[in-house]
Amino acid sequence: MTMLLSASLAILFMQQAPAENIDWDAEFGVEEEVRDPATGEIPVEPYEQSNENAGAEPFKGDAMATHFNSQAGIRRITDRFVDLNFADPRIGAIFAGHDQVRLRRTIFEQFCFILNAGCDYTGRDMSSSHEGLGSRKADMNAIVENLQQAMREEGVPFSAQNRFLAKLAPMSGDIIER
Ligand code: HEM
Repeated sequence: MTMLLSASLAILFMQQAPAENIDWDAEFGVEEEVRDPATGEIPVEPYEQSNENAGAEPFKGDAMATHFNSQAGIRRITDRFVDLNFADPRIGAIFAGHDQVRLRRTIFEQFCFILNAGCDYTGRDMSSSHEGLGSRKADMNAIVENLQQAMREEGVPFSAQNRFLAKLAPMSGDIIER
């Protein structure tokens, strides 16, 4: 009797054991996201690169770049801005799972280009990069608040903050979806 019981337990175990060896990602066709070893970014579908994708004409002269403390200041602002957005309970879920490495680079390039601080923008346009995110007006307001905080912490004069925000405002139409 005991032998019979342990034999059937063994059979039961053998039947279940292989399940642990199944590659469920492969079974369901889940594709692994492989980061580029050089950039640390997850590659995106090919697109045409152009400064026009930045969505705004750059400022003239170097006054705005100076107010933002040049590229080093813009780097601090954009890193802080990305951190705040990912950690924000209002909009963090929209950012979760997106490539933070790429976002830090492209947001930096976009701001640096628009502020005429010596960069080209190599990211996607605002419409295609926000397509399907389902962003609402309230999400845009949250983003603007986070950007204001990051600029304030860098000591950007209030008038320069507002000039910059006025450049970004027309992009709302390409970003907000509902
Ligand atoms: C004026 C406001 C905004 C600007 C200037 C901006 C700028 C950008 C830029 C430059 C990119 C990267 C494009 C690329 O990867 O090629 C991006 C991506 C992204 N943005 Fe925005 N954005 C704005 C508003 C928003 C809002 C309101 C949300 C939602 C709360 C949002 C969520 C995202 C997300 C999740 C991505 C990553 C998309 C992906 O991984 O494919 N953005 N944004």
